[in-house]
Amino acid sequence: MEKGKLLYEGKAKKIFETEDSSVLWIEYLDQATALNGARKDEIQGKGLLNNQISSFIFKQLKAMGVESHFIKKISKTEQLVNSLQIVPLEVVIRNVAAGSFSKRLDVKEGTLIDFPILEFYYKEDRLDDPFINEDHMKFLELATEDEIKEIKKVALIVNEALIELFKAIDITLVDFKIEFGRYIDGRILLGDEISPDTCRLWDSKTNQSLDKDIYRKNLGDMVSVYQEVLDRLEQLEK
Ligand code: C5P
Repeated sequence: MEKGKLLYEGKAKKIFETEDSSVLWIEYLDQATALNGARKDEIQGKGLLNNQISSFIFKQLKAMGVESHFIKKISKTEQLVNSLQIVPLEVVIRNVAAGSFSKRLDVKEGTLIDFPILEFYYKEDRLDDPFINEDHMKFLELATEDEIKEIKKVALIVNEALIELFKAIDITLVDFKIEFGRYIDGRILLGDEISPDTCRLWDSKTNQSLDKDIYRKNLGDMVSVYQEVLDRLEQLEK
């Protein structure tokens, strides 16, 4: 398969066409951003790690019965995915209070939530990705009722699968963000990436952050903690 024209450059990935209009070529970049892109840094080695981690997780999810857009990893920093018509939603699931949830509701970081809390954000940079509910989604025609039902169902299954996966390597899945899109056959499929950029991962013994909070809060070297996540995931294959 050949890499074609650049279609889109996001905050951490470039997306290229291929000769097959249903397949996209994704390149993970050595780039980290925060505050909706207002802060941006080059981080050597990050693209490679997120590509490996995200590919690994999508493969594991498939083995656990969750389909995604992922086709295969084709190089250290690149993968092929099925092209989806993106549903402009960021779907967040929380198992432990942290981040914007703790701030907005004044709940102490680390408070266990005894059921998964599902949140929707409208993916629109111009509006800073506002928090929305299902009525807003319907009004804005972001997805049909059936699609919303499917998105919620799959998001909860992904949560269960990821909790189990990370628990096996002594990591607590605090929260994460996923995105969905419509496949050519109309089905809703999991898209984008699942990596320490999009999940809060805490070492289950020390509660140390093994994710992008290292960058957001200037806590040190993000590459070494992303490497730690990959090393632990790879232990699962041994
Ligand atoms: O910031 P907040 O607490 O709402 O983030 C919840 C989860 O969603 C975190 O794991 C964060 O990494 C992820 N997230 C993301 N992309 C965004 C916003 C949040 O991956 N634009």
